[in-house]
Amino acid sequence: MTLLRDHDLAGAFDHAAPAYDRLTAMNPGYRTDLLRSARRLRLPHGGAGLRVLDLGCGTGASTRALLRAAPHARITAIDVSAGMLERALAKPWPANVRFQHLSAEELLTTEDEGTYDAVFAAYLLRNVTAPDAVLGAVRTVLSPGGRLAVHEYSLSGSPVHRALWTAICQAVIIPAGSLTGDRMLYRHLWRSVLAFETAPAFAARLTRVGFTSVRTLPVPGWQTGVVHTFLARNASTPEARAS
Ligand SMILES: C[S@@+](CC[C@H](N)C(=O)[O-])C[C@H]1O[C@@H](n2cnc3c(N)ncnc32)[C@H](O)[C@@H]1O
Repeated sequence: MTLLRDHDLAGAFDHAAPAYDRLTAMNPGYRTDLLRSARRLRLPHGGAGLRVLDLGCGTGASTRALLRAAPHARITAIDVSAGMLERALAKPWPANVRFQHLSAEELLTTEDEGTYDAVFAAYLLRNVTAPDAVLGAVRTVLSPGGRLAVHEYSLSGSPVHRALWTAICQAVIIPAGSLTGDRMLYRHLWRSVLAFETAPAFAARLTRVGFTSVRTLPVPGWQTGVVHTFLARNASTPEARAS
């Protein structure tokens, strides 16, 4: 199963950017589920005094969810696709939100250790070539005890949910994406979810790379068993962080 990666994937997102918001608006729950996952970070006091990173922010839907969940946080949103970022930047944002054209893999080259109190990664990790390396970078830029929420298409492991995902992709998602000339990207979406690890396996990966307090939460609606929120904490002592 060939998946789009790196440069090809960024190019496919550049191309899909103009129609991206219209397509995701057709998905019932896309925005409310992002908000649900952002709220699950439980950032205190509306995020006042906190720095939060939106990794793979796309056209800003996940950034908007973070802003609603933590209106007083300082939010940095990064993405590898210039086209997606351009769409995000065209929207109105308050002064506490900034965008950067940067890949998740490049995080460590620009950010200091322990910069962020929380990281949100929505629909990103399934797309990266080396998830452990990206998760390691996330741990480095997170403060001790910092929070991670991953919102991702990660199947439950039940054949029913796998079949449901394929049926929805074949009947709705791929035909809709084909109308805007983005068939390749939406076939990638279908296949990348089938190829990605199940929710229990991804939770185990988070623990393996050193996150603590890992929890997996379902989302309601048709996405049940298809999309999950994964919550985790960065270890709070230097010894545990080095493990
Ligand atoms: C499916 S979109 C999701 C966007 C947004 N988080 C949302 O929830 O609407 C995935 C985004 O991740 C970005 N992306 C993919 N690989 C990346 C990487 N290695 N580093 C940073 N961004 C990446 C893509 O350009 C795309 O904008």
